[in-house]
Amino acid sequence: MPKAEPAPAQDEAITGRAEASAITPDVQFDNYTLFLKGQRVFIHSGEFHTFRLPVPSLWPDILQKAKAAGLNAISVYLHMGLTNPAPGVLDFESFRALQPLYDAAKDAGIWIVLRPGPYINAETTAGGIAHWATSEVAGRLRTNDTSWRAAWREYIQGVIDATVPNQISSGGPVIAVQIDNEYTNRYPTHAGYYQDLIDFYHASEIDVPLTYNDFGGGKSFVNGTGAVDLWGLDSYPQGFDCSNPLRWSPVVTDYHQHHQETNPWQPFYIPEFQGGSFDAWGPTAPGFDACRILTGPDFMSVFNLQLWAGNAKLINYYMFYGGTSWGGSPHPGVYTSYDYGASITESRELGAKFDELKRQGIFIRSSPEFYKTDRISDSSSGPQISSNPDVFITQLKNPDVHATFYIARHRDSTSNATADFRLNVTTSLGNLQIPRFAESITLGGRQSKVIVTDYTFGSSSLLFYATTQVFYSGVIAGRDVLLVYGDSDQDHETTIIPSGTPNRLQASSSSFFKTTEDAVNGTSTITITSLRGARSLATYYDSDTQLVMYADTQTVSSFWSPVIAGPETDPFRNYWGIGTNQSILVGGPYLLRDATLQGDTLALRGDLRSDVQLTVIGIPEGVTRLSWNGQDVSPDLRAAEEISSVGGSVFVGRVAPKASLTRLEVPQLNGWKYQDSLPEISQEFDDGAWTVANRTETNIPYKPYYGDGRVLYGCDYGFCENVVLWRGHFLATGNEQSVNLSINGGTAFAASVWLNDVFLGTSFGNSTNNRNIIQETDDNFNFPSGAVRPNEDNVITIVQDNMGLNQTDYGTYNGDTSKSPRGVRGFRLLDGTFGEWKVQGKVGGYRNFPDKVRGILNEGGLYGERQGWHLPGFSTEGWTSRNLSDGLPDGVAGVGFFVTTFNLDIPQGLDVMLSFNFEEPLGQPYRAFLFVNGWMMGKRIANLG
Ligand code: GAL
Repeated sequence: MPKAEPAPAQDEAITGRAEASAITPDVQFDNYTLFLKGQRVFIHSGEFHTFRLPVPSLWPDILQKAKAAGLNAISVYLHMGLTNPAPGVLDFESFRALQPLYDAAKDAGIWIVLRPGPYINAETTAGGIAHWATSEVAGRLRTNDTSWRAAWREYIQGVIDATVPNQISSGGPVIAVQIDNEYTNRYPTHAGYYQDLIDFYHASEIDVPLTYNDFGGGKSFVNGTGAVDLWGLDSYPQGFDCSNPLRWSPVVTDYHQHHQETNPWQPFYIPEFQGGSFDAWGPTAPGFDACRILTGPDFMSVFNLQLWAGNAKLINYYMFYGGTSWGGSPHPGVYTSYDYGASITESRELGAKFDELKRQGIFIRSSPEFYKTDRISDSSSGPQISSNPDVFITQLKNPDVHATFYIARHRDSTSNATADFRLNVTTSLGNLQIPRFAESITLGGRQSKVIVTDYTFGSSSLLFYATTQVFYSGVIAGRDVLLVYGDSDQDHETTIIPSGTPNRLQASSSSFFKTTEDAVNGTSTITITSLRGARSLATYYDSDTQLVMYADTQTVSSFWSPVIAGPETDPFRNYWGIGTNQSILVGGPYLLRDATLQGDTLALRGDLRSDVQLTVIGIPEGVTRLSWNGQDVSPDLRAAEEISSVGGSVFVGRVAPKASLTRLEVPQLNGWKYQDSLPEISQEFDDGAWTVANRTETNIPYKPYYGDGRVLYGCDYGFCENVVLWRGHFLATGNEQSVNLSINGGTAFAASVWLNDVFLGTSFGNSTNNRNIIQETDDNFNFPSGAVRPNEDNVITIVQDNMGLNQTDYGTYNGDTSKSPRGVRGFRLLDGTFGEWKVQGKVGGYRNFPDKVRGILNEGGLYGERQGWHLPGFSTEGWTSRNLSDGLPDGVAGVGFFVTTFNLDIPQGLDVMLSFNFEEPLGQPYRAFLFVNGWMMGKRIANLG
């Protein structure tokens, strides 16, 4: 492949930052791209939150899939709230660990942009801010107030300590650290906060650039106080309502202009580009299948390429893998699944979106000439180079060589029509109109294309032009190899400048391909025109120096291009373009994770769903055997012959999944045991050990509405998350008639209220699409006659299931909206006064909760949770048997625990995705928490009414 160019001298590269010397020479940039270890690199990245896949041994799976898609980086939010559960407590163990992530990234050859917050947004509780800070910090969150600064320092220091040895300058994967997330520098206290963070990093050994993700519109932190080294903006052009997934927004047309106006001395960085959508709470939530359509392969074709047309050269897709917002981690607007309709599903499966990402990813990885381009023109002004005015062209050109990239879309980017056009291009051999032999180039409905001219493939071969799309270009076994593709219902044309001694001149013998040899301005070319209907893999040109192939879009999607690692001594041996330039092409499997050379064996590792033909193009020299997941694969010589006449460099064989795959049985969940989990309402219940709720002051700026001056906010007593119980005592005169409660628990919370053991009712927060709403209820609960016990201690028990804390409200940029109270904002007895109020959340509160593995957000304060009934190993001996579908005994309101166990009999080496489906069993309203081996992996609300 063409050599990437070296980095410019340091002072030339970084013009945006005065203290450039604080940045490692290993990460530099000019106004086009980053340079990593001196190589120009297009950062092509996907977002992955390790806290949403709390199983570190599965992280390599995600990173290998990113690598297999051709990506070279991931972007990772960390979660302050999970890592720093209480003041002075830092916990980087279990799923909060960083080292396994760094190690897995290095093994996969994936760079990391680390985004530790403290504020991340991310549809997580308090936007990632530690819950304790929402009550213990007196000053305003996300400002330069000293109390907030004191609150984040330890956490950021912990991140720094874990990350310094893993920066690129130390041989690690981390290439940038993002400061906080989406904010404004409009207020001096906000800018001061960013400057505090920057100063803190600069005082440490962090030597990678500090970055920022802006809304865009505000252009904050480009210059002045709080300005970062590398500024970027996010873009979600389709929005987050998946309920009409076929309704498209138009593409954003001013990306390039925005970059030019904002930070033209830096490369154009998109730290988040829409890779899916979250889905809001509610009975009408469309679900992630719909989000996967809204942001499907056609969206990716049109909208991703529009970013490329804007000349963006660092792009991160949010999300690449969404995962699960388990436990109490979601903010009030979303539910447990954070599948996001991303390229990989929550269960880590690949589908059509992954295919499109891979087609784009391998193209970018294969095309170093694309990394440095100027935007020459587009169809809004300048010469109209498309014959069809409905087709909009943006022309990007590498200023150092002739390579030119014409990005074609429908002028009306939402169009479902098919558009045929011809294109006037300027090439090294003069101006011409393409295609020259086929009738036209075709854009299908909601499709965009990159049409290249003067494109170098392999080390020095020239693809003169192609109306096909480039999938792969590289050097394999000493030859320049190119694989192009196109939809089988369109005509395509590919013209190369041939070299070498041909092995076989004509394209695959089929009436679908037409080969024309001619000279363009005295230079011999070979053009292969493929006609609609052309399917499967075909050889276009095959010589001792070049191999050019074509496949239809579907076939090409079964191809992979694993990177063969460089020498073992190189810490960056797995990084494409840095530690290695060696790759091969393999067609067939569901997933190819990696390829390694082991003596005379090329060892492939991957996943299968069915028997497939394995087509390996380019067996490295000296290799005589091929293995698939450790098993030798025998060659099918006849099939190899059909693909190419070049013996030796193409290998074909069949591989099959393990036979046991078909025999897997999912266990039945039966044998349920039941126990009541609401002893709090019985007269005997002793709340002596509970915390007395007698505070009259709070740092939470949303003050109580009514009551007697006491503050009944869970966070103020260490109980911020999940279920919190309140018990209000009063010595009854007998005249008490009702209690009035104003309850705040986030969106879609529920609070059930009892007087002694008499159920009074439930307050529901409504579901809503609003991302940041502070939702509360104000309900009057009448006491049924006879329920009050005169001259006795009476108790109002409230069982409150809170949603997470609010994110920053972006209407006001007020960080303190995360101090949204979760508790009782008002309490009042009609004809009576409360004595003591008691509160209980999860055991130990945020300071002393015992379950350090699953962490602070996993469980709440239900009686059963306090007893550990949800944990594996808990004995249910003595519990009664009861069917889950029977619900609670006698159909009365209450809280019950159902427990069952099952054995999984899954053979080693299989990646089996299991999920739990709630059937709609009961005609009554309920909410259910699903604990799997103690992990709260789902919250379900049904029939809220
Ligand atoms: C962005 C934000 C992310 C996430 C995303 C929507 O604006 O930076 O953290 O909230 O929106 O999923």
